[in-house]
Amino acid sequence: MPHHETGEALFCLCGVYMDKIVIQGGRALKGEVRISGAKNAALPILISSLLTDGWNTYSNVPDLKDIQSTKLLLSSLGASIESDGDSIKINGGGMCNHEASYDLVRKMRASILVLGPLVARLKKARVSLPGGCAIGARPINLHLKGLARLGAVIELKHGYVEASADHLIGNEIYLDIPTVTGTENLMMASVLAKGVTVLRNAAREPEVVALADVLIKMGAKIKGVGTSVITIEGVSSLKPVSVSIMPDRIEAGTFMVSAALTRGDVTILNCEPNHLEAVIHKLILSGAQVTVEDKSIRVQGSDEIASVDVKTLPYPGFPTDMQAQFMVLMSVARGVSIISETIFENRFIHVSELKRMGADIKISGNTAMITGVPALSGAPVMATDLRASASLILAGLAAVGTSEINRVYHLDRGYESIEKKFARLGAAIKRVNG
Ligand code: EPZ
Repeated sequence: MPHHETGEALFCLCGVYMDKIVIQGGRALKGEVRISGAKNAALPILISSLLTDGWNTYSNVPDLKDIQSTKLLLSSLGASIESDGDSIKINGGGMCNHEASYDLVRKMRASILVLGPLVARLKKARVSLPGGCAIGARPINLHLKGLARLGAVIELKHGYVEASADHLIGNEIYLDIPTVTGTENLMMASVLAKGVTVLRNAAREPEVVALADVLIKMGAKIKGVGTSVITIEGVSSLKPVSVSIMPDRIEAGTFMVSAALTRGDVTILNCEPNHLEAVIHKLILSGAQVTVEDKSIRVQGSDEIASVDVKTLPYPGFPTDMQAQFMVLMSVARGVSIISETIFENRFIHVSELKRMGADIKISGNTAMITGVPALSGAPVMATDLRASASLILAGLAAVGTSEINRVYHLDRGYESIEKKFARLGAAIKRVNG
């Protein structure tokens, strides 16, 4: 057991409990909710500040544990940071340390995104290998293969990646898997490289597009953004920018499912409906009424929830980060649905907790067969990873009786004040401090 989990175990044994969320289920959610900035866009965009001298300003940054971790990481590398509400200013000009320590990286595996910028700007990097996590081994072989294609010398020593290059040289890179952070890392490595880089089978997620748009605003020359072939022509330097973080499509999707699940009527404000086409499509098939406006989505639940099959895929397919949440909806649908998880090898951890709440789910490999039940029943459950935590909140909102979700620090990594947002929609939900 990694020492941080041992720490948690000891922490709990001595009777000091982590925060938990307590929910009295069964209420139909009604009203409006504003979506925060996207965690998975903010992380690479804040890290891109390392590519410039001067002050970058970022607004609509969500207040999340992962954002705090990113600020700690960037200042440990020598960047200067000023925060003011949901706005953050970062100056990468003072960057002097090329090492991202194990203690920082273990808290947030997306720290690996500093690898590209460090090699691009300091000609070397020493970054702790991000271990696996609950949902899978999460290797970074494609990040490293791509960096080597740009001329970096890569060595793995004592749990760290050591990368160095006098100057990165543009090249053709084929990604065996359209890795999101892999595409982001290699885009940031190649914007200051000599010559042209072509990323083939690149990720097309909106968060990748958001980062590319910021890099272009900084003066980078990038074409094909949002497609599977991204072409980057290296430039000599980039200039600091002022940008706003796009809304979080996974938070929006989570609230959309909550409306259908509780047979409520919720309008999700300041979201990007065109980032949510797959989720909208599946919710409509499940019987919900979905009304799309320019920057908002209204979801009205129906008494009869129809079972719908889902297969998670790279964007624009159904997002893996919405799989656990949609499974809760299917657990109280009429009939049998099949959910296939094709992105991560172990992303059904929430299933055992949902079964404790009365769900009827059978797993075979990366496929779950869900037979709908009339209702879930409230129970004490344990969160294990970010999106599984969200699914347990949803289950508690729909269940009959009281639910207690423990270890909600997983939730705080990716959702800003989620219990307050649900309470404003009429949920009987509160956080109990540990
Ligand atoms: C990003 O993770 C997101 N995180 C994840 O969100 C999201 O689930 C995932 O993309 C898929 O959409 C951030 O953006 C910070 P991948 P990432 O590299 O980049 C394999 C959340 O809940 N792979 O696209 O790590 C990998 O093991 C998080 O917000 C390799 O084999 O995902 C996985 O099976 C969870 N080698 C698949 O590719 C590599 O070098 C997709 O991973 C890289 C990835």
